Amino acid sequence: MENYKKYDKLNYYLALFFSGIVYPFINLLLALVLKRLIDSGIARNVYELENAIFVCLLVCIFLAAAVFTSELTKNRFVNNFSKKYRRHIFNEIIASDLNEFSNNSTGDFLATMTNTVSTIEEKYIKSFFSIVSNSSLLLFSIIGMFMINWQLSIPVLIVSLVPIIVMSLLGGKMQAKQNLALTQQNAYVSKVKDAFSGFLVIKSFNIEKQISKEFQNGNDKRADSEFSLSELNNISGSISNFSGYLVFLVAYGLGMFMVINGNTSIGGVTAIVQLVNFIVMPLSKLGLEMNNKKAGLAASKTLNQLLEKVHNPVKDNSNYLKLNRFENEIKLTNVSFSYPQHDEAEKTVLSNINLQIEKGKKYALVGMSGSGKTTLLKLLMRYYKLTKDGNISIDSVNINNINLSSLYKLINIVQQDVYIFDNSLAYNIMLGKSFTDKELNYAINKAGLRKLVDGNSKGVDLNVGENGKALSGGQKQRISIARALIRKTPILLMDEATSSLDQKNTTAIENAILEIKDLTSIVVTHKLNPNLLQKYDAIIFMKDGTITEEGSYEELMKQKGDLYNLCSLTMIN
Ligand SMILES: Nc1ncnc2c1ncn2[C@@H]1O[C@H](COP(=O)(O)OP(=O)(O)O)[C@@H](O)[C@H]1O
Ligand SMILES: [Mg+2]
Repeated sequence: MENYKKYDKLNYYLALFFSGIVYPFINLLLALVLKRLIDSGIARNVYELENAIFVCLLVCIFLAAAVFTSELTKNRFVNNFSKKYRRHIFNEIIASDLNEFSNNSTGDFLATMTNTVSTIEEKYIKSFFSIVSNSSLLLFSIIGMFMINWQLSIPVLIVSLVPIIVMSLLGGKMQAKQNLALTQQNAYVSKVKDAFSGFLVIKSFNIEKQISKEFQNGNDKRADSEFSLSELNNISGSISNFSGYLVFLVAYGLGMFMVINGNTSIGGVTAIVQLVNFIVMPLSKLGLEMNNKKAGLAASKTLNQLLEKVHNPVKDNSNYLKLNRFENEIKLTNVSFSYPQHDEAEKTVLSNINLQIEKGKKYALVGMSGSGKTTLLKLLMRYYKLTKDGNISIDSVNINNINLSSLYKLINIVQQDVYIFDNSLAYNIMLGKSFTDKELNYAINKAGLRKLVDGNSKGVDLNVGENGKALSGGQKQRISIARALIRKTPILLMDEATSSLDQKNTTAIENAILEIKDLTSIVVTHKLNPNLLQKYDAIIFMKDGTITEEGSYEELMKQKGDLYNLCSLTMIN
C-alpha cells in the first residue's frame, strides 16, 4: 500500500487532529452538559439551568467550528493529493519503457487516469478520514457512556456490535464484487475509446452492427456488476439499519427501568441516548466505509499492478554514461533479435547482423517489406534492448550504457507513422522546446513545408487539428522530417519517411538530406530511384533479417545480386 500522506503531510495531520480528537472530544462534552441541563431543569434549579444553557451554546459553537475545520483540512488534503497523485501516475506512465507501454492498451491507461484514480480519491482517501473520525467518535462516546452509567452501557454496546459482525462476514465477497465491477468498468471505457478512435474503419467496413453488439455486451457486463455490488451493499446496509433501531430500543427501555429503580437520572438516560447516536451512526458508517476502503484498496492494487507492468527496472538514470558527441562510428556486432513474445514461440527477426556506420556518410537501407529494416532502426534507437547475443555501440560505447536523453541528442528518427498533436504547426515542429526563428525556418525549408506555411494566413501558427486532421499524409510526414531536422542531431534515421510523397517530392527531400554535410544518415527507402541511390555512400540490402549485400550503387548493380533483382522487378512494375 502506498504511503498517501506524503502528498500533503500538514493538512493530513491537521485533518486527523481535528476529526479524530477535537471533534469527538467536544461531542462528548455536549452530552455531559446536556445531562446537567436536563437534570437541573427537572430539579427546577433556574440558576443552574441558565448556566447549563449558556455552556451548551458555547459547546455547540465549538462543535460546529471543529466540524468545519476538520472538513476544510480534509478537503485541502484531498485537493493536494489529487493534484500530486495524478501527476505522479501520469509521469510514471509517460516514463515507461516503450515496449512495456505498447504491450498494454491505451484504453487501460486512460481508464487508470480517470476511473481508477477517482475511485482511490473518492473511496480510499475519503473513507480513511471517515473511519478515523468515526472510530474515535465511537471510542469517546463509549468512554462517556461508561462515565455516566456503566450498567446501562454494557447491554447497549453488545447490541451495537451486530453490524460489525455482519460486515466482516460479507467483506471478502464485497471486495471480489468490487474488483469485478472495476474491471468491467475499465473494459467498457476501452471499448468505447476503441469504437470512437476507429470510427473511420467502422464506417468504411460497415461493421456498425458488430461494434454495437460488442459495446452492448461490455455495457451489460458493466451495469450488471455494478448492480450485483449495490445489492450486496443494500443487504449489509439494511442489517445495519435494523440493529441501529434495536440499540435505541434497548437504551430507552432499559434506561427507563433504571430511572424507576432510582439507578440513574432522566438526564443520565438522555445523555446516554445522545451518546448512543454517536455509536450507532459511526458503526453503520464504519461498516460502509470499511467497504469503501476495500474498494479503494482494490483500485489501488489494480493501479499498482499496471504501474508495475510498465515499470522499467533499468530506468534511464543518471548513472548511465552521457555521450556528448558522435566522433567515429556506429558498430553492430553479431546482432540478433526477436520481439519479446508473450504467447507463441519467438521468431528471429534479425540474425547475426554486422554493420559499420561511419560518421558523415549516407546509407540507404533497402529490402523487401518484413526483412527487418524498421527493427534495425528501432534497435539503434534502443526502443528495444538486445535480448540475444550481439552488441551495438556508438564510438565504442555500448548503447545499453548510454543515458537515453543523451542518446536522443545524438540520434533521431523519422518514422512512417507520424503522430501530430492538436496544436499549431510550429508547436508540432518544435514540440515544446524553444528554437530561434532562423532554426525554425531552416527546418521548414528543408522539409518542404514552405508552401504550406506561406500559403495560409496564420503561417506557422496554423492549428492542425486533432492528429493533424487538417493536413495531408505528405504534409504530416514533412512535419515529422522538420521535427528531426530542427534538432540537428548528428545521426538521422529515416524509415520510409517519404512514403506518402510522390517521386518528385521524395527526391527533393532525400536530396535535401543528402546535402547536409556532417550528417550521418540511414534512409530506408522503397522507391528505388537510380539517380538517388547513386548519391548514397553505401546501400545496405536486407533480406529475411540478414544483410546480404553492402556497397555503392554501381558495385551492387555490377554484382547482379539482390539489389539488381529488386531494381529490375520494380522497373517492370
Ligand atoms: N512489434 C512487433 N512484434 C512482433 N513482431 C514484429 C513487431 N514488429 C515487426 N515484427 C516482425 O518483424 C519482422 C520484421 O519487421 P520490420 O522490421 O517491420 O520489417 P521492414 O521494416 O523491413 O518491413 C516482420 O516479420 C514483422 O512481422
Ligand atoms: Mg518497415
